[in-house]
Amino acid sequence: MCFLAQLLFLSLTGATSLPRPDGPYSVGFSQYIISHITPNDPTPGPGNALLAHIYYPTRDTNDSSPVLYMDPKSAIVWGDALDLPRGLLGKLRTDLHGNASFLDAPTGHPTILFSPAAGFNAWMYYGLLANLASHGYTILAIDHPGEPPVVRWPNGTDIIGLSIDVDFTTTLTREVHEFRVTDLAAALAWFPMFVRERSAPFDTSTFLALGHSIGGSASITFTPDHEQVRAAVNLDGGFSQHQTVITDVGRPVFLMSSINHTIQGDPSWAEFQDHQTGWWENIAIYGSGHLDYCDIAMWNEALGLAPLVQEQFGPVGGLRTTQIARKYVGDFFSWVEGRGKGVINSPSLKWREAVYVNGSEFANGHTNE
Ligand SMILES: *[C@@H]1O[C@H](CO)[C@@H](O)[C@H](O)[C@H]1NC(C)=O
Ligand SMILES: *[C@@H]1O[C@H](CO)[C@@H](O)[C@H](O)[C@H]1NC(C)=O
Ligand SMILES: *[C@@H]1O[C@H](CO)[C@@H](O)[C@H](O)[C@H]1NC(C)=O
Ligand SMILES: *[C@@H]1O[C@H](CO)[C@@H](O)[C@H](O)[C@H]1NC(C)=O
Ligand SMILES: *[C@@H]1O[C@H](CO)[C@@H](O)[C@H](O)[C@H]1NC(C)=O
Repeated sequence: MCFLAQLLFLSLTGATSLPRPDGPYSVGFSQYIISHITPNDPTPGPGNALLAHIYYPTRDTNDSSPVLYMDPKSAIVWGDALDLPRGLLGKLRTDLHGNASFLDAPTGHPTILFSPAAGFNAWMYYGLLANLASHGYTILAIDHPGEPPVVRWPNGTDIIGLSIDVDFTTTLTREVHEFRVTDLAAALAWFPMFVRERSAPFDTSTFLALGHSIGGSASITFTPDHEQVRAAVNLDGGFSQHQTVITDVGRPVFLMSSINHTIQGDPSWAEFQDHQTGWWENIAIYGSGHLDYCDIAMWNEALGLAPLVQEQFGPVGGLRTTQIARKYVGDFFSWVEGRGKGVINSPSLKWREAVYVNGSEFANGHTNE
């Protein structure tokens, strides 16, 4: 199909939704500002606040407050970067319910803290995060205003951040990693008071940490210093620039990697794994690229366009990678909560792209075979 025909097709079908959450709950969404000073903030942001995005289970089904997938300014910046016609990304829709009512009682699941990739916004993980919320988790995802190209405050004011093609030098990466770890700690400290003030049914005593790329590395560095964080997940983040590599988490750690992310290609993963005394496991998604773990690779598909072909996107595609990440991150969290059998315990034709790479059970000589 030529491009104009695709656009015509799109305008006829209105096929602009990202994959719907598949759990039993609807998903509520709210944003709040967390006061938090970042000393020597290397970004153009104000350095005095974070933007929290909260995804949570709800029974509301009314569409009175539909939530745009991305703000108009981000739609322009990202559309230009990806050579998409102006305004097209602004058509993407979510199934989120803005400021929806809380459930009457807690679901019994921990709260998940989430940190995105460098220069990315928390909303770029809707495919995974809204899905976790539809299964009963509350997700507290954190944006550091000034780091992504655009962050929109709840009052509609935009903070213009680092350029979309900024060079993440070793120094900048180290600085970003450092503030990501303290941002997670600030969100963790802020949350209980917030929940008390609103009588929200959210868990304030047990947490899970999750992140992509630098956010995955930051989640892991953050975890051992906070007793209430029970486990951490790193989606394809390298550890080379920072102290994560020698961090013994001492709690379950799940590593998901794109096919090129091997211990040969990134020795920081081998060094990190050698430092673990607790349970850890690494699975790779065969055919996935680094950016398939966020929503970007699904944008084109949702808009009815041909897939993006770039080095960081793999042949398996963003939609499939997101389905696989939903499945295994979900299984891992269930297992940490004492349900289910763990991550990969038997070969599965349905999830055949997911490959067991290594883990504490294997490294210590106990295999499931
Ligand atoms: C939630 O309510 C606040 C205050 O009324 C409003 O500014 C905000 O846009 C709403 N958020 C969503 C996601 O609907
Ligand atoms: C949705 O409907 C419920 C009642 O069914 C109401 O309490 C709630 O305020 C509504 N939510 C929004 C965002 O309008
Ligand atoms: C919007 O909110 C931000 C963050 O709280 C604040 O710094 C800014 O002054 C507000 N802008 C307006 C026009 O109220
Ligand atoms: C698995 O990880 C352990 C610990 O890092 C390492 O010693 C071992 O060589 C790894 N095995 C494989 C097959 O990669
Ligand atoms: C994996 O690495 C090879 C060699 O550098 C590269 O050509 C390929 O595009 C990469 N694949 C992905 C999915 O990033």
